[in-house]
Amino acid sequence: MRNSRRSQVDPFIVMDVMEAARRAEEAGRDVIHMEVGQPGTPAPEGARQALTAAMAGDAMGYTVALGLPALRRRIARLYGEWYDIDLSPSRVVVTPGSSGAFILAFTALFDAGDHVGIGAPGYPSYRQILKALDLVPVDIETAAENRLQPVPADLTGRDLSGVMVASPANPTGTMLDRAALAGLMATASDLGASFISDEIYHGIEYDRRAVSALEISDDCYVINSFSKYFSMTGWRIGWMVVPEDHVRVVERLAQNLFICPPHASQVAALAAMDCGPELQANMDVYRANRALMLAGLPQAGFDRIAPPDGAFYVYADVSHLTDDSRAFAAEILETVGVAVTPGLDFDPVRGAGTIRFSYARSTADIEEGLRRLTRFMADRGAGPAAGKRVFPER
Ligand SMILES: Cc1ncc(COP(=O)(O)O)c(C=O)c1O
Repeated sequence: MRNSRRSQVDPFIVMDVMEAARRAEEAGRDVIHMEVGQPGTPAPEGARQALTAAMAGDAMGYTVALGLPALRRRIARLYGEWYDIDLSPSRVVVTPGSSGAFILAFTALFDAGDHVGIGAPGYPSYRQILKALDLVPVDIETAAENRLQPVPADLTGRDLSGVMVASPANPTGTMLDRAALAGLMATASDLGASFISDEIYHGIEYDRRAVSALEISDDCYVINSFSKYFSMTGWRIGWMVVPEDHVRVVERLAQNLFICPPHASQVAALAAMDCGPELQANMDVYRANRALMLAGLPQAGFDRIAPPDGAFYVYADVSHLTDDSRAFAAEILETVGVAVTPGLDFDPVRGAGTIRFSYARSTADIEEGLRRLTRFMADRGAGPAAGKRVFPER
């Protein structure tokens, strides 16, 4: 039996790194995980308690396709709390993670063969999901002086049916401010391209709040998730906000593609949204870890970095140290037991000279990871002053 052409997507390299780290641990090695883009913390206590209580009396059957009405209402309320937006719950679609939302959004908006612009570097699965749906991902090579975010000039003159951005972004953690986001949305609209904003890292911001595309226009799809700020990766639950006249289209797709998002996860997610103090405690850890990374990485010799505005990643230019980030990451894992992600996951071209560090785990892990990275660079004779800062600060 043959496989389809569109099934020929690339592997998610970080998953391969996780597997190598697992094998090392199985062989008795102690590994510090700076590869995984997920919190080390569980779902908030209140979320787990709510689910335990619900399971005692509820069969947890299918819910309606767009999600539990109470959850859709609570998500709409979040837009009031975070952005001062009055959002109708009818526009909220609960999804199986933001990954499920991508499938719904791409299917609702594009036809086979359509071109969709995505920033490079960017989250790897955008490209692969687009390919699997017979769409054509168009890499928009971003510039260091734009803190690796696309700008309107990168879009002008292109034949695009869609434009997708993320702010804060993975792998850089950089954000688009209101003017930058508005500029991109206006340019996409001029091109006749649908605009999709991946806001999965909202809530995990350091110096200023992230701007939602919904603060600028209703004519866009906004995708978010319970995976990151709400610390619920494995629960596979997220959401999407779509224009009112797209709701029925998305509903029909959701009914047929997924029936509904996981019922148990919807119950937990609803309760998680009222667990503010625990979520803020997680934020305190990310903030402390970020400070350690921004001080420790340059000291170790990884000083070609852009300070992240949000999320929990630092993206480092290591092109002065290697032209094969995959081999470089494997060497770091092998010699000092720190798992990091090769940039090739995020940028098929320039990623050969970059790596991503995640600081989502405990502060003790970050301290130990930095000690080991310092040793790794010192042993290579690549300590401080070997590199220079290339991504400008804000
Ligand atoms: C930018 C970005 N979008 C989406 C996802 C997928 O998240 P989810 O768990 O909601 O499917 C990730 C996961 O790391 C991500 O980094």
